[in-house]
Parts: sequence; C-alpha cells; structure tokens
Amino acid sequence: MRVFETVDDIRSFRRRLTGTVGFVPTMGYLHQGHVSLIRKSKQLCDHTIVSIFVNPTQFGPSEDYDSYPRDIERDIRILSSEGVDAVFSPSVQEMYPLGMDVIVDPGPIANKLEGAKRPGHFKGVATIVCKLFNIIGPDMAFFGQKDAQQIVVLHRVVTELHIPVKLVPCPTVREDDGLAMSSRNVYLTPEERLVAPTLYQALMLVRDRWLAGETSCDNLKNAARELLSQQPLIRLEYISIADPYTLEELDSLAGNKALVSLAAHIGRARLIDNIVLGFE
Ligand code: PAJ
Repeated sequence: MRVFETVDDIRSFRRRLTGTVGFVPTMGYLHQGHVSLIRKSKQLCDHTIVSIFVNPTQFGPSEDYDSYPRDIERDIRILSSEGVDAVFSPSVQEMYPLGMDVIVDPGPIANKLEGAKRPGHFKGVATIVCKLFNIIGPDMAFFGQKDAQQIVVLHRVVTELHIPVKLVPCPTVREDDGLAMSSRNVYLTPEERLVAPTLYQALMLVRDRWLAGETSCDNLKNAARELLSQQPLIRLEYISIADPYTLEELDSLAGNKALVSLAAHIGRARLIDNIVLGFE
C-alpha cells in the first residue's frame, strides 16, 4: 500500500491505474463503519483509494477540530490490512494552498437539520469533497448513511456541478448494543457509553410506533423525546422526521418514505444517528 501526502504524487499514482477506482474519503480514526465502505469499494471497483484529512472548514469555531481524535499510524495499519491500494493524507496547506476563500455552496439544502445547527458545515464538506474528487478522479465514492444529510447534499453537488462520480450510500454500522460507530464515541466516559445506545432505541421506538399504525410525526417525535428525557446524561438537540430527498419536515407518514434523524450531546460528545422508514 502506498501513502501519499501531496496532490502531485497521488495524481501521478492515479494516472497509472487501469480499471475502475473507488474512493473512500474519511477524517481518520478509523472504525468498522469506515472499513465497511472500503470493503464495498473493493467489491465494486478494481482499485480503492482512501483519504484521511481532518477538514478544518467543516468545523464551527466552537467545535472539536483541535481535539478531533487522530491516530494516523493505526489508521495506516488498518488500511494496509484491508488491502487498500493507496492512502492520501495531505496537510491543510496542501489542500488549501491559497487559503479558504474558494468554497462550494450547496444552497438551502445545506441549511436544514445538521446544517441548521452547524452553520457552514456542509459548505466545508462540499468544498473538501469536490477538491478530493478533482484530485483523485474516482469512478465511485462510498459514503455512510450514518451521515444521511451529507449524502443528500453531495448528491446535489455532484449532479449540479456535473462531476462524473457515482455516489454509493452504505448502511450504518453499529456496535452490538445499537450505538452507531463514530470516531467521536471515544469522547464518551464509561457511564456515558452505557446510556448512548438510547439514541438508537429512540429511533427504534419511532419505527415500532409507526409499524403499529401511528402516523402523526408529532406523536412519533414526542415518544422518542420522552424516552430520551429519562436519561439525564443525554441532551437531545433535535429530532426530525423529514422527506429523505428534500429534507422538508413531514407532518404525517401516509405511506411516504421518511428520514428519522436526531442529534444529541452526551458529555463532550455530539452524536448523530438516523433510520429511514418505508424502504423495506
Ligand atoms: P468521517 O466522519 O471520518 O466519515 C467518513 C465516512 O464514513 C462517511 O461517509 C461516513 O458517513 C462514514 N461513516 C461514519 N460512521 C459510519 C458508520 N457507523 N457506518 C457506516 N459508515 C460510517 O464524513 C466525514 O468523515 C467527512 O465529512 C468527509 C466526507 C471525509 C469530508 O471531510
């Protein structure tokens, strides 16, 4: 496995590859969620390239950019054992050579849900992913459904900018107790870790009530809020039931598909999770 730190080096490696190239962008501190994307890429493409870059422009001023967990050596060991062809791990200077003035603005879709709570977040994501696509030139790129809005936003960006990359959504990988895997789970104390699966239980409660015939989104969200309020360590930021394509909030579930998503603070971790209803 080759490891590259400069745009020129990864580009010349890429140019020599024949066949299809799958790309998995990450911010590192890899877990089984990331590995699932890599394995999907290896299934569907002849070559797989992974990037590791903690992107400063997608973090808000009071967010965890500085403390975001990093362990590049461990990441490289994992990627090498997964049989990845190349890793691109550039510096901030390499990715933003003249500063951070040129940005990709995905428009209003980026201001809903996560974007409403993290202003500018999806401009940062769209900008870095476009840069990485321009550098790597992949045929397919693999993203986790865990970050559902990220996929919706990027789909819009690649469509509107005519970027010839097929985005492949992949299912959320969970711990045995249901907690969605996340690099940020490392922030949880043992006590917080014990209550964290309640986030997924709240989503499952919404699904169960919906399967039992409840269609009012207010009632469904209130059931989830009530469950979460029983855990004093969990501070719910929002719970949403929205159209999975437009991200518009829904009033009722009348046979339509719905993205049920939430964000919550547990100690110093801000965690997100979601499920989609109506696709099964
Ligand atoms: P990061 O949080 O490192 O996630 C990289 C990819 O792994 C994303 O597509 C994310 O959705 C996916 N992922 C994370 N946890 C997952 C889980 N439990 N199951 C399945 N997939 C999971 O998302 C980013 O980085 C950044 O925004 C990035 C796209 C790299 C741009 O900077």
